[in-house]
Amino acid sequence: MPADLLLVNFNQIFCPIDKGHPLFGEEMSEATIIENGYIAVKDGKILEVGEGKPRKELINDQTKIVDYQGKFASPGLIDAHTHLVYGGSRENEFSKKLNGVSYLDILAAGGGILSTVNSTRSASFDELYQKSSHLLDEMIIHGVTTVEAKSGYGLDWETEERQLKVVRQLNEDHDIDLVSTFMGAHAVPVEYQGKADEFIDHIIDDMLPKVKEESLAEFCDVFCEKNVFTAEQSYRLLEAAKNMGFKLRIHADEIESIGGSKVAADLHAVSAEHLMVISDEDIARLSEAQVIGNILPGTTFSLMEDTYAPAKKMIDQGMAITLTTDSNPGSCPTANLQFIMQLGCFQLKLTPIQVFNAVTINAAYSVCRNESVGSFDVGKQADITVFDAPNIDYPMYFFATNLVSHVYKNGELVVE
Ligand code: NIG
Ligand code: FE
Repeated sequence: MPADLLLVNFNQIFCPIDKGHPLFGEEMSEATIIENGYIAVKDGKILEVGEGKPRKELINDQTKIVDYQGKFASPGLIDAHTHLVYGGSRENEFSKKLNGVSYLDILAAGGGILSTVNSTRSASFDELYQKSSHLLDEMIIHGVTTVEAKSGYGLDWETEERQLKVVRQLNEDHDIDLVSTFMGAHAVPVEYQGKADEFIDHIIDDMLPKVKEESLAEFCDVFCEKNVFTAEQSYRLLEAAKNMGFKLRIHADEIESIGGSKVAADLHAVSAEHLMVISDEDIARLSEAQVIGNILPGTTFSLMEDTYAPAKKMIDQGMAITLTTDSNPGSCPTANLQFIMQLGCFQLKLTPIQVFNAVTINAAYSVCRNESVGSFDVGKQADITVFDAPNIDYPMYFFATNLVSHVYKNGELVVE
């Protein structure tokens, strides 16, 4: 069968192996690296990936052939954890951070997430749409083709719904595919101060059923953290969400270890997020329950901490991990997944193959899009990120510079 589009002459192509499950432990070091390869696309899907010159059956008069001599290609990158939609910004917290004021102290004083809640509540649909659309533009030029997006800067139904509707609209309008997560339990809003249990009841009784009814999100997430939501409250919320048919995520062990990872394991969440201060016992729990660890080293970097998640240990203990931006206005204001991948090497000491597996096939499993993206298996979407780099090592070594030269989404050239 001839291809519509044939991308030829790549110096290297990174082909993750889709084993029908996320890559656990040592599997994260496995991949097929094709030297001097081509990618054939038909109807926006992968038709064939191979080495050397394409077979002549792949070419007819209609086939468009593009030469990528000297370049490196991987499946479109996937950012499995972002807080995409919000109003305002928080550069006013930057000098506080530099002066050693902690993230949780800023939040306790009514700043942090709560300050973004105020800006988001007062932002219109259009304002949120424009701002988020611009962030997605930044993400795609850095090679990202699929993004998970959380609500959680409304903490009241009206604003949570507006955020989720922005995600739904952008999923239709933008080249990037979006996966929606409801995170009404991101902080305790001012009107529920001291009444976190009542707020959890309100989310369970009033918000979750509406999210479900309007099909506004596929996942439910909660910030299980000291002075935010306890492990018991997180369990209660996620168990109710699971019973309503939501898939689960949980922000766990980010700053203090208060039992979030155990909640993730007990409820078989798809992923547990952050895990900067996870205990060995909890690594064993997540490994056993096959919960994916979504690791966010940009947050450690931006919080100016040195508590990077023990990613190597997690892999040694058999876990599957991803690397994600956590893109948000407070703890990680960035849209550059490449830099996060570089932190994966520089700070977490992962290998380039582990890093690329983390942001392709494992991230696809983390957002439950493994049937359609995350590898170059025949029939998956032709989401392709081309780097102005000769091999897989180069974009990790040449840091803090955007090396993406071209991006294809469903076989269409969307960045050049
Ligand atoms: O994942 N930790 C909770 N939520 C975000 C931060 C959100 C914010 O500071 O605005 C995170 O780091
Ligand atoms: Fe987050």
